[in-house]
Amino acid sequence: MKASELKHLLDLCQQQVVDIRKQPTQLVSGFGNPDANVLLVGEAPGAKEVEQGKPFVGQAGKNLDLFLETLDLKREAIYITNVVKYRPYRINPKTGRKCNRPPNKKEIELFMPYLHNEIEVIEPKTIVTLGNVALRAVSSRFHLNIGEEHGQLLTLSLTSRTYELFPLYHPASIIYNRSLYDAYYNDLKILKQLIHQ
Ligand code: URA
Repeated sequence: MKASELKHLLDLCQQQVVDIRKQPTQLVSGFGNPDANVLLVGEAPGAKEVEQGKPFVGQAGKNLDLFLETLDLKREAIYITNVVKYRPYRINPKTGRKCNRPPNKKEIELFMPYLHNEIEVIEPKTIVTLGNVALRAVSSRFHLNIGEEHGQLLTLSLTSRTYELFPLYHPASIIYNRSLYDAYYNDLKILKQLIHQ
């Protein structure tokens, strides 16, 4: 039932994206248990995700496994999705190759209605956003900053329900900025308690 609702939403989203971009665009849908209590929201897929048609694979998937282990959660217990469902990229002028870039505001806004519909189908208890893009898109509040909101329990009200919203730094940002490491692990401890209470 939920799986077919999610598929229907994705088909509508695919049509809309192609109408707007006027080019064939491969979307990477969310993945996991649609009855999960925990919904993880990342930023956008990269090359590996497009290749395999799933969010958080390759190196990002290895980081995710570690993250889940710290939280004592199995992959089957979560649903994972991204705000932007296609890979935002630019062409490197030196190599002529595609490289990832952060999604822009227009791209984020394009996918927000789909993301909110996805949340309402899955109806998780807790939504964990990874990084600024996910925090802003889920909450619809573009002035929020992950540096101020991380590790604190917020609430999100959509049309049918209210959800727990727990903002975390994006795991990739910890790799680039080691000074966030302690705060990130402290937030994971708080999240672990929240999830298992
Ligand atoms: N892979 C994803 O699917 N999303 C991210 O935000 C990062 C890596």
